[in-house]
Amino acid sequence: MPIVQERKKNVKTIAVASGKGGVGKTNVAASLAIAMQKLGKKVMIMDGDLGLSNIDVLLNLTPKHTIQHLLTGSMLLKDILVEGPHGVQVLPAGSGIQEFTALNELQRLKILQAFDSYDGDIDILLIDTAAGISENVAFFCTAAQEIIVITSPEPTAIIDACALIEVLYTRYQEKEFRVLVNSARNSGEAFDVYRRLAVAAEKFLSVSLDYLGYLPFDESVPAAVRAQKAFVDIYPQGNISRKITEIAKKFLDDPDKVKGTLQFFIGNLLSVPAGAPRRSK
Ligand SMILES: Nc1ncnc2c1ncn2[C@@H]1O[C@H](COP(=O)(O)OP(=O)(O)OP(=O)(O)O)[C@@H](O)[C@H]1O
Ligand SMILES: [Mg+2]
Repeated sequence: MPIVQERKKNVKTIAVASGKGGVGKTNVAASLAIAMQKLGKKVMIMDGDLGLSNIDVLLNLTPKHTIQHLLTGSMLLKDILVEGPHGVQVLPAGSGIQEFTALNELQRLKILQAFDSYDGDIDILLIDTAAGISENVAFFCTAAQEIIVITSPEPTAIIDACALIEVLYTRYQEKEFRVLVNSARNSGEAFDVYRRLAVAAEKFLSVSLDYLGYLPFDESVPAAVRAQKAFVDIYPQGNISRKITEIAKKFLDDPDKVKGTLQFFIGNLLSVPAGAPRRSK
């Protein structure tokens, strides 16, 4: 009798990155995950900020274990995941551990094995990356099928977003980015930020910058952070929550971009040797 192996379903992997720190990656990732989950998807957030993680703090979770236990021990992914709001699965990272701020090949292999043996049901994996353009950030961005680049309207954030795009293009051949402008005063200001980025990116001929949308500057975000909740959860009727839901829908309405599987994600992750330019997708 032939052995029929069930093929794992496609998992859309999305990295959230920024260049400059503090522009809203973690808040956006948390609320985007919840918005997608509310729209019927099964979502996992991976805290990709392996040195200074904080998604667990933001969502008031108290994980017993973190991704470090995958990297140093023999724990299974399913035993490390914690359930967040609305059933979002969270893969927490530890804080203050410098050792994992640049993953080596063996550590990537351990992540591969952990995901490979994971049999949970997820549709979307969101990776909240660290600030800057470290190797870990590059690995997670190149491994993911989609890259969201977040910037605020501040010139320093725009410059750093541009630097991130430049590095991912020139060193890792990434060509497609989706820009989300956070903390904008209005749609005009946000689109102007996008245009400035697009003009700057024109010198990289084959880079495509897609305008994903914007989130307004909104006092409810720091208030939600203080309450250790995602803004979409604490103020579901607010303008910013409606906007993140629209952004979530853009991904769900966009099945063509689903290019691979979870194994593809990890395989891709591994295919980038530390410090080396990456092959084209
Ligand atoms: N749309 C917004 N309106 C008002 N404040 C915001 C908004 N988005 C984020 N903030 C505030 O900006 C701060 C930084 O947000 P967050 O931690 O999500 O950024 P980050 O990019 O993940 O930072 P890091 O680079 O350190 O990981 C938080 O205190 C949050 O309250
Ligand atoms: Mg963060």
